[in-house]
Amino acid sequence: MASLTVRQLDEKLKTLLRLRAARNRRSMEDEVRVILRQAAEATGLEALDLIEPPNPAATPQPARPAVAPTETRRVVLIIGGGIAAYKSLDLIRRLRERRCAVRCILTAAAQEFVTPLAAGALAGEHAFTDLFDPRSELDVGHIRLARDCDLVIVAPATADLMAKMAGGHADDLATAVLLATDKPVLLAPAMNPQMWRHKATRRNLAQLLQDGVRTVGPNAGEMAERGEAGTGRMAEPMEIAAAVEALLAPAASALAGKRVLITSGPTHEPIDPVRYIANRSSGKQGHAIARAAADAGAVVTLVSGPVTVPDPPGVTVTHVESARDMLAAVEAALPADIAIFAAAVADWRAAQTSGQKLKKEAGDTPKEGFRLALTENPDILSTIAHLKDTRPSLVIGFAAETERVVEHAKAKLKRKGCDWILANDVSPESGVMGGDLNRVHLVTADRVEDWPTQSKDEVAQMLIARIAAALALPIRKDAR
Ligand code: C5P
Repeated sequence: MASLTVRQLDEKLKTLLRLRAARNRRSMEDEVRVILRQAAEATGLEALDLIEPPNPAATPQPARPAVAPTETRRVVLIIGGGIAAYKSLDLIRRLRERRCAVRCILTAAAQEFVTPLAAGALAGEHAFTDLFDPRSELDVGHIRLARDCDLVIVAPATADLMAKMAGGHADDLATAVLLATDKPVLLAPAMNPQMWRHKATRRNLAQLLQDGVRTVGPNAGEMAERGEAGTGRMAEPMEIAAAVEALLAPAASALAGKRVLITSGPTHEPIDPVRYIANRSSGKQGHAIARAAADAGAVVTLVSGPVTVPDPPGVTVTHVESARDMLAAVEAALPADIAIFAAAVADWRAAQTSGQKLKKEAGDTPKEGFRLALTENPDILSTIAHLKDTRPSLVIGFAAETERVVEHAKAKLKRKGCDWILANDVSPESGVMGGDLNRVHLVTADRVEDWPTQSKDEVAQMLIARIAAALALPIRKDAR
């Protein structure tokens, strides 16, 4: 049978085909298949049967059906070798429900748990397993597999697969695709808690995050091994699908229409008309979050303490001085869907403020030194997190700590009643306070994510992506 490659088409046809393929988010070869099939259907397949009776053995079976018209995004799902691989079969269905065409790659270890046949049947197309399979290489090839998609998902991402990725290995189809891809990569790690905690895995994860890889989970809970529990369970298919949605959603609409309330900067607590209690917060992180939320389509209200950074564009800003003013402005800005408390609110204020400048020569100043009586400020985060009717559905706090950062953040999460805490190390040697970089840990009720050191803008964007993914989840209180 004569063969025709795209290369042999004339330039005009090629351009037309390229445009059509791009519009339909298909490869050019897939687009040709769709055109031929439509032409055959228009002619009437029976008519073809009359000319050349079908011979099933000789009829070439398409290795990959074209992306169904309803499936507008294409993802590659790499299934690693862990017991959680069985959940990946469900993930295929969840992704297809969300209009994603799924192409599966199974590692050798994955095939000990699930079969390429099961993955292929659910995906509706051939599942790939072998780097040196001539049929796959001729039909698609690992480079095309790596590029001809919008996102690469690794679920379960085993400790071994993460180590290989971090080291840049490419000795099988999965790792070769991961090294060759220029698309975003989402990992759903799954392993024994001890393996997850191991310094080697921590190092590999930090490297992968620094390389721009995104993660979802792992969650805490029972392990497959009897009597073992801890963090290491793969995120549920719905959670992974939601994270995929957030990554594939155009950033400009990830929070479309959501009302986001943010506090930022320090507060100034007056002592007298010229003196006040303050701290070194610059407002850079809170303002970056407000900007990222507005960029994602949210309706943003920013309540800012005294800062020198400019107001973010497209955001309603209320400027305040003290913690009590900040609380009043926050309450006035409710209702909101999401509240993020990034302000470094002063814990105390002067019990009494003087209308006149206090004089050091004043007769009533005790000899041993001037004593300033303090009283506690309202805790804005805790107040809002404990609201009954108007509590935002996602309340996020920050925890600036100088030691045992995650441990203190976990305690704070409970104490304040919020859903997430972004904990950061503000010890003087970290340079975070007032600086442009930040290193945070996202602490939720069931997991801790260690984010790499990155700019405050990048932290803001990562937070907005996490929020968008969380909102796409079905309502599940323990997942907040
Ligand atoms: O207790 P701590 O100050 O470490 O808690 C930090 C978190 O609580 C931050 O999210 C901060 O914005 C918020 N907070 C608040 N009102 C306070 C103190 C802290 O909203 N009075």
